[in-house]
Amino acid sequence: MEVIIQKTTEQAVELTAKIIAENIGIKPDFVLGLATGRTMEAVYAELSRMHREDNLDFSLCKTFNLDEYIGLPPEDKNSYRYYMNYHLFNRINIDKRNTHLPNGMAEDEIAEGKHYEDLIKRAGGIDLQLLGIGSDGHIGFNEPISALFSRTRAKSLTPATYAQNSPLFDNPEDMPKRAFTMGVGTIMEARRILMLVTGASKAEILAKAIEGPLTSMVTASAIQLHASCTVIVDEAAAADLKEKDYYRWIFENEPEWQKYRQ
Ligand code: F6R
Repeated sequence: MEVIIQKTTEQAVELTAKIIAENIGIKPDFVLGLATGRTMEAVYAELSRMHREDNLDFSLCKTFNLDEYIGLPPEDKNSYRYYMNYHLFNRINIDKRNTHLPNGMAEDEIAEGKHYEDLIKRAGGIDLQLLGIGSDGHIGFNEPISALFSRTRAKSLTPATYAQNSPLFDNPEDMPKRAFTMGVGTIMEARRILMLVTGASKAEILAKAIEGPLTSMVTASAIQLHASCTVIVDEAAAADLKEKDYYRWIFENEPEWQKYRQ
Protein backbone atom coordinates (compact mmCIF):
# COMPACT_ATOMS: atom_id res chain seq x y z
CA MET A 1 0.00 0.00 0.00
CA GLU A 2 1.09 3.54 -0.67
CA VAL A 3 -0.38 6.52 1.14
CA ILE A 4 0.04 9.85 -0.61
CA ILE A 5 -0.68 12.96 1.41
CA GLN A 6 -1.54 16.06 -0.57
CA LYS A 7 -1.75 19.52 0.97
CA THR A 8 -5.21 20.37 -0.28
CA THR A 9 -8.37 18.57 -1.30
CA GLU A 10 -7.96 20.01 -4.81
CA GLN A 11 -4.49 18.48 -5.15
CA ALA A 12 -5.72 15.11 -3.88
CA VAL A 13 -8.58 15.18 -6.38
CA GLU A 14 -6.31 16.24 -9.25
CA LEU A 15 -3.82 13.47 -8.55
CA THR A 16 -6.61 10.89 -8.42
CA ALA A 17 -8.00 12.05 -11.78
CA LYS A 18 -4.51 12.19 -13.28
CA ILE A 19 -3.78 8.56 -12.35
CA ILE A 20 -7.08 7.44 -13.89
CA ALA A 21 -6.44 9.48 -17.04
CA GLU A 22 -2.93 8.10 -17.46
CA ASN A 23 -4.21 4.55 -17.19
CA ILE A 24 -6.88 5.20 -19.83
CA GLY A 25 -4.19 6.72 -22.04
CA ILE A 26 -2.13 3.52 -21.80
CA LYS A 27 -5.10 1.13 -22.20
CA PRO A 28 -8.01 2.76 -24.05
CA ASP A 29 -10.37 -0.17 -23.34
CA PHE A 30 -9.80 0.32 -19.62
CA VAL A 31 -12.28 -1.27 -17.20
CA LEU A 32 -12.88 1.28 -14.48
CA GLY A 33 -14.61 0.61 -11.18
CA LEU A 34 -16.41 3.72 -9.93
CA ALA A 35 -17.78 5.04 -6.65
CA THR A 36 -20.39 7.68 -5.90
CA GLY A 37 -20.73 10.12 -2.99
CA ARG A 38 -19.64 13.66 -2.23
CA THR A 39 -15.89 12.94 -2.39
CA MET A 40 -16.06 11.73 -5.98
CA GLU A 41 -18.01 14.67 -7.42
CA ALA A 42 -14.81 16.72 -7.83
CA VAL A 43 -12.97 13.76 -9.41
CA TYR A 44 -15.72 13.41 -12.03
CA ALA A 45 -15.67 17.18 -12.64
CA GLU A 46 -11.91 16.95 -13.27
CA LEU A 47 -12.23 13.89 -15.56
CA SER A 48 -14.97 15.72 -17.49
CA ARG A 49 -12.68 18.73 -17.83
CA MET A 50 -9.85 16.50 -19.07
CA HIS A 51 -12.21 15.05 -21.68
CA ARG A 52 -13.30 18.54 -22.78
CA GLU A 53 -9.94 20.28 -22.75
CA ASP A 54 -7.33 17.53 -23.10
CA ASN A 55 -9.27 15.07 -25.30
CA LEU A 56 -9.28 12.32 -22.70
CA ASP A 57 -11.04 9.56 -24.62
CA PHE A 58 -13.52 7.26 -22.88
CA SER A 59 -15.00 5.80 -26.07
CA LEU A 60 -13.67 2.28 -25.46
CA CYS A 61 -13.87 2.29 -21.65
CA LYS A 62 -16.19 0.13 -19.60
CA THR A 63 -17.30 1.08 -16.10
CA PHE A 64 -18.73 -0.80 -13.14
CA ASN A 65 -20.09 1.08 -10.15
CA LEU A 66 -19.78 -0.29 -6.67
CA ASP A 67 -23.37 0.00 -5.61
CA GLU A 68 -26.97 1.09 -6.11
CA TYR A 69 -29.90 1.70 -3.76
CA ILE A 70 -32.57 -0.98 -3.77
CA GLY A 71 -35.97 0.37 -4.83
CA LEU A 72 -34.77 3.43 -6.75
CA PRO A 73 -35.27 3.40 -10.54
CA PRO A 74 -32.51 4.88 -12.74
CA GLU A 75 -34.47 8.10 -13.33
CA ASP A 76 -34.82 8.81 -9.59
CA LYS A 77 -32.48 11.68 -8.87
CA ASN A 78 -31.15 9.97 -5.76
CA SER A 79 -30.23 6.78 -7.60
CA TYR A 80 -26.58 6.21 -8.27
CA ARG A 81 -27.35 5.72 -11.98
CA TYR A 82 -28.72 9.26 -12.04
CA TYR A 83 -25.68 10.53 -10.09
CA MET A 84 -23.26 8.89 -12.55
CA ASN A 85 -25.08 10.18 -15.64
CA TYR A 86 -25.22 13.66 -14.15
CA HIS A 87 -21.66 13.92 -12.82
CA LEU A 88 -19.78 11.97 -15.47
CA PHE A 89 -21.40 9.91 -18.21
CA ASN A 90 -23.39 12.79 -19.77
CA ARG A 91 -20.21 14.89 -19.88
CA ILE A 92 -17.81 12.46 -21.56
CA ASN A 93 -17.77 10.33 -24.72
CA ILE A 94 -18.51 7.01 -23.07
CA ASP A 95 -20.98 4.59 -24.65
CA LYS A 96 -23.66 4.31 -21.94
CA ARG A 97 -24.15 0.66 -22.88
CA ASN A 98 -20.67 0.11 -21.46
CA THR A 99 -21.56 1.69 -18.10
CA HIS A 100 -22.87 -0.66 -15.44
CA LEU A 101 -24.52 -0.36 -12.06
CA PRO A 102 -26.51 -3.01 -10.20
CA ASN A 103 -30.21 -2.79 -11.06
CA GLY A 104 -31.85 -1.36 -7.95
CA MET A 105 -35.25 -2.53 -9.21
CA ALA A 106 -34.26 -6.18 -9.73
CA GLU A 107 -36.89 -8.51 -8.32
CA ASP A 108 -34.58 -11.45 -7.76
CA GLU A 109 -31.81 -10.06 -5.57
CA ILE A 110 -29.67 -13.17 -5.59
CA ALA A 111 -29.83 -13.41 -9.39
CA GLU A 112 -28.94 -9.72 -9.69
CA GLY A 113 -25.81 -10.19 -7.59
CA LYS A 114 -24.72 -13.15 -9.74
CA HIS A 115 -25.53 -11.28 -12.96
CA TYR A 116 -23.37 -8.32 -11.90
CA GLU A 117 -20.46 -10.60 -11.04
CA ASP A 118 -20.85 -12.26 -14.47
CA LEU A 119 -20.77 -8.90 -16.25
CA ILE A 120 -17.53 -7.98 -14.49
CA LYS A 121 -16.01 -11.34 -15.36
CA ARG A 122 -17.07 -11.07 -19.03
CA ALA A 123 -15.45 -7.63 -19.22
CA GLY A 124 -12.16 -9.26 -18.17
CA GLY A 125 -12.24 -7.96 -14.58
CA ILE A 126 -11.77 -4.45 -13.24
CA ASP A 127 -8.45 -2.75 -14.06
CA LEU A 128 -8.73 -0.05 -11.42
CA GLN A 129 -11.32 0.34 -8.68
CA LEU A 130 -11.89 3.83 -7.31
CA LEU A 131 -12.95 3.83 -3.65
CA GLY A 132 -14.09 6.28 -1.01
CA ILE A 133 -14.60 5.39 2.64
CA GLY A 134 -17.81 5.65 4.66
CA SER A 135 -17.95 7.14 8.15
CA ASP A 136 -18.40 3.58 9.48
CA GLY A 137 -15.42 2.31 7.48
CA HIS A 138 -17.39 0.82 4.61
CA ILE A 139 -16.14 0.43 1.04
CA GLY A 140 -18.97 0.19 -1.45
CA PHE A 141 -21.82 -0.50 0.96
CA ASN A 142 -19.95 -3.27 2.76
CA GLU A 143 -21.05 -2.33 6.23
CA PRO A 144 -19.34 -3.54 9.43
CA ILE A 145 -19.16 -7.34 9.76
CA SER A 146 -19.53 -7.83 6.00
CA ALA A 147 -17.56 -10.93 5.09
CA LEU A 148 -14.17 -9.99 3.71
CA PHE A 149 -14.74 -12.61 0.96
CA SER A 150 -18.25 -11.33 0.13
CA ARG A 151 -19.53 -10.95 -3.43
CA THR A 152 -22.10 -8.62 -5.02
CA ARG A 153 -25.33 -8.87 -3.03
CA ALA A 154 -28.10 -6.96 -1.26
CA LYS A 155 -27.02 -5.41 2.02
CA SER A 156 -28.82 -3.56 4.84
CA LEU A 157 -27.33 -0.16 5.55
CA THR A 158 -26.25 0.93 9.03
CA PRO A 159 -27.63 3.89 10.99
CA ALA A 160 -24.22 5.58 10.43
CA THR A 161 -24.63 5.31 6.64
CA TYR A 162 -28.22 6.46 6.93
CA ALA A 163 -27.03 9.54 8.88
CA GLN A 164 -24.26 10.14 6.32
CA ASN A 165 -26.39 9.89 3.17
CA SER A 166 -30.01 10.71 4.06
CA PRO A 167 -29.38 14.51 4.08
CA LEU A 168 -28.78 14.16 0.32
CA PHE A 169 -32.45 13.22 -0.18
CA ASP A 170 -35.10 15.98 -0.43
CA ASN A 171 -36.98 14.02 2.16
CA PRO A 172 -34.34 12.17 4.24
CA GLU A 173 -36.88 9.47 5.11
CA ASP A 174 -37.00 8.46 1.44
CA MET A 175 -33.49 7.02 1.62
CA PRO A 176 -33.67 3.26 1.07
CA LYS A 177 -32.34 1.16 3.92
CA ARG A 178 -30.86 -1.48 1.60
CA ALA A 179 -28.57 -1.46 -1.41
CA PHE A 180 -26.80 -3.76 -3.83
CA THR A 181 -23.06 -3.60 -3.42
CA MET A 182 -20.03 -5.32 -4.86
CA GLY A 183 -18.61 -7.50 -2.11
CA VAL A 184 -15.28 -6.92 -0.43
CA GLY A 185 -14.06 -10.01 -2.29
CA THR A 186 -15.24 -8.55 -5.60
CA ILE A 187 -13.43 -5.27 -4.89
CA MET A 188 -10.25 -7.07 -3.91
CA GLU A 189 -10.10 -8.75 -7.33
CA ALA A 190 -9.61 -5.40 -9.10
CA ARG A 191 -6.08 -5.24 -10.48
CA ARG A 192 -5.46 -1.93 -8.77
CA ILE A 193 -7.21 -0.02 -6.00
CA LEU A 194 -7.22 3.76 -5.81
CA MET A 195 -8.82 5.16 -2.66
CA LEU A 196 -9.48 8.88 -2.22
CA VAL A 197 -10.27 10.25 1.24
CA THR A 198 -10.67 13.93 2.00
CA GLY A 199 -11.80 16.06 4.94
CA ALA A 200 -11.38 16.03 8.70
CA SER A 201 -14.55 13.99 9.26
CA LYS A 202 -12.80 10.94 7.75
CA ALA A 203 -9.50 11.23 9.68
CA GLU A 204 -10.33 8.82 12.50
CA ILE A 205 -11.86 6.07 10.35
CA LEU A 206 -9.09 6.39 7.75
CA ALA A 207 -6.44 5.78 10.44
CA LYS A 208 -8.34 2.70 11.60
CA ALA A 209 -8.58 1.37 8.03
CA ILE A 210 -4.92 1.90 7.15
CA GLU A 211 -3.06 1.49 10.42
CA GLY A 212 -5.51 -0.51 12.50
CA PRO A 213 -6.05 -4.28 12.50
CA LEU A 214 -7.57 -6.07 9.53
CA THR A 215 -11.18 -6.51 10.60
CA SER A 216 -14.63 -6.89 9.11
CA MET A 217 -15.70 -4.18 11.59
CA VAL A 218 -13.91 -1.75 9.23
CA THR A 219 -14.27 -3.31 5.81
CA ALA A 220 -11.91 -0.73 4.28
CA SER A 221 -9.10 -2.37 6.29
CA ALA A 222 -9.26 -5.22 3.71
CA ILE A 223 -7.32 -3.03 1.28
CA GLN A 224 -4.25 -3.73 3.44
CA LEU A 225 -4.24 -7.13 1.72
CA HIS A 226 -4.28 -5.75 -1.83
CA ALA A 227 -1.00 -6.03 -3.74
CA SER A 228 -1.49 -2.80 -5.69
CA CYS A 229 -3.24 -0.19 -3.61
CA THR A 230 -2.77 3.58 -3.54
CA VAL A 231 -4.53 5.78 -0.99
CA ILE A 232 -4.62 9.50 -1.72
CA VAL A 233 -5.57 11.82 1.12
CA ASP A 234 -5.57 15.51 1.93
CA GLU A 235 -3.94 16.90 5.08
CA ALA A 236 -7.25 17.06 6.93
CA ALA A 237 -8.01 13.37 6.36
CA ALA A 238 -4.40 12.44 7.21
CA ALA A 239 -4.56 14.13 10.63
CA ASP A 240 -4.81 10.91 12.68
CA LEU A 241 -2.27 8.82 10.73
CA LYS A 242 0.65 7.91 13.00
CA GLU A 243 3.11 7.22 10.21
CA LYS A 244 2.62 10.39 8.19
CA ASP A 245 6.36 11.13 7.98
CA TYR A 246 7.08 7.65 6.70
CA TYR A 247 4.42 7.95 3.97
CA ARG A 248 5.90 11.30 2.91
CA TRP A 249 9.38 9.81 2.86
CA ILE A 250 8.21 7.01 0.54
CA PHE A 251 6.52 9.52 -1.79
CA GLU A 252 9.67 11.65 -1.93
CA ASN A 253 11.97 8.70 -2.64
CA GLU A 254 9.97 6.33 -4.81
CA PRO A 255 10.89 6.94 -8.48
CA GLU A 256 7.33 6.11 -9.66
CA TRP A 257 5.99 9.16 -7.84
CA GLN A 258 8.59 11.75 -8.91
CA LYS A 259 6.47 12.94 -11.83
CA TYR A 260 3.62 13.80 -9.44
CA ARG A 261 5.66 15.92 -7.01
CA GLN A 262 4.47 19.48 -6.75
C1 F6R B 1 -20.64 4.92 -2.85
C2 F6R B 1 -19.59 4.28 -2.07
C3 F6R B 1 -19.37 4.67 -0.64
C4 F6R B 1 -18.79 6.07 -0.51
C5 F6R B 1 -18.66 6.46 0.96
C6 F6R B 1 -18.16 7.87 1.15
O1 F6R B 1 -20.67 4.42 -4.15
O2 F6R B 1 -18.93 3.43 -2.56
O3 F6R B 1 -18.53 3.72 -0.04
O4 F6R B 1 -17.54 6.12 -1.12
O5 F6R B 1 -19.89 6.31 1.59
O6 F6R B 1 -19.13 8.77 0.71
P1 F6R B 1 -18.84 10.34 0.70
O7 F6R B 1 -17.82 10.59 -0.33
O8 F6R B 1 -20.17 10.96 0.36
O9 F6R B 1 -18.37 10.70 2.07
